[in-house]
Amino acid sequence: MSASQKVLGWIDARFPLTSTWKAHLSEYYAPKNFNFWYFFGSLALLVLVNQIVTGIFLTMSYKPDAALAFASVEYIMRDVPWGWLIRYMHSTGASMFFVVVYLHMFRGLIYGSHRKPRELVWIFGMMIYLALMAEAFMGYLLPWGQMSFWGASVIISLFSAIPYVGDALSQWIRGDFVVSDATLNRFFAFHVIALPLVLLGLVVAHIIALHEVGSNNPEGIEIKAHKDPVTHIPLDGIPFHPYYTVKDIVGVVVFLMVFSAIIFFGPEMGGWFLEANNFIPADPFKTPQHIAPLWYFTPFYAILRAVPNKLFGVVGMGAGVVIMAFLPWLDRAKVKSVRYRGPIYKSFLALFIISFVGLGYLGTQPPTPLLNDIARLLSVTYFGFFILMPWYTSVEKTKPVPERIPE
Ligand code: HEM
Repeated sequence: MSASQKVLGWIDARFPLTSTWKAHLSEYYAPKNFNFWYFFGSLALLVLVNQIVTGIFLTMSYKPDAALAFASVEYIMRDVPWGWLIRYMHSTGASMFFVVVYLHMFRGLIYGSHRKPRELVWIFGMMIYLALMAEAFMGYLLPWGQMSFWGASVIISLFSAIPYVGDALSQWIRGDFVVSDATLNRFFAFHVIALPLVLLGLVVAHIIALHEVGSNNPEGIEIKAHKDPVTHIPLDGIPFHPYYTVKDIVGVVVFLMVFSAIIFFGPEMGGWFLEANNFIPADPFKTPQHIAPLWYFTPFYAILRAVPNKLFGVVGMGAGVVIMAFLPWLDRAKVKSVRYRGPIYKSFLALFIISFVGLGYLGTQPPTPLLNDIARLLSVTYFGFFILMPWYTSVEKTKPVPERIPE
């Protein structure tokens, strides 16, 4: 027995190292037909690690103090060695996190990955998505620019629309009558430690839940239904390691090319990733002409603005996010993958894409009567996709799904 085998044996007698490696990698059998859409889970993990590592380095030079925060970010950008790179990796990482997560969620939607038996994988995913939104919202206050301040002011003041307790609640969140140093300090605490811990815990739960039931695939066929009678290995499965670890490296390389191109050639992405107004220090006495959150929140911000009543607007905005959690139970089709669905589902799916992207664009624009009307129409089609789903998925005829994954 070699020295390394002896060390491994010593560890295995005390900690389930080899068995964990086998259960989750070398003997975790994933469907053999993963495509491009299956890159985004591992990419989300990569971006999560990037955010944590660059975040730790930013925290070394950042000052969570309303009098010092803005200048400390400029100090990072100009004086800290490689500080600009760390900051751009973090700010670009935030937007890319949402790009990757939205594509990851959309994959779930088209292949029915949220359906039985993966409902909990989806629910943990939704909890991750909510935590990620809170994480991004609180992080955006930290540079203490005009958009940080006014964005947080607008969103926190939404809570005051809640009857009876609203005003007290928004004051309690801010720790003050207006967004102030107290708000900055608590957002810093949540952004750097509380929410990252929650996120990490949820990601672990998400993957444990997935590995319990096994991965879905573009055909929506359960590979566990056909196992080798002797080895009990799914006939259409291949070991995650080395097959998908190597395949995922291809996704990582392409992703890093895009990521680097943005960081080095356009870190502001024309105002989509970093807004011009946020390069102006926060001024509580000067409201910017046009306040808009970053792109990943704008579909919901557009729903909020589309509703004339403030309370109902807030409810609509919240419902727009939460309704996605119910997808596993709204979808009644006999098949999972879009490949075996009919034209009604595909039309509703197209309408959903148009609504989400359209609302996202409208949320970035200053409101006009015409744009408001379009936002109202798109809000209706957005909710229509979900609310009508039990009906159109149960009446539509679907194509027969093969027993095994086709060659
Ligand atoms: C930090 C964010 C997230 C990370 C790191 C993450 C990670 C992963 C990983 C590594 C996988 C397995 C590989 C793959 O199928 O792509 C996966 C699968 C999955 N994730 Fe996520 N995820 C995240 C967020 C979400 C969100 C927000 C949702 C939905 C609301 C979601 C829903 C799913 C589903 C349904 C699957 C199973 C897909 C299938 O088997 O077809 N995830 N996730």
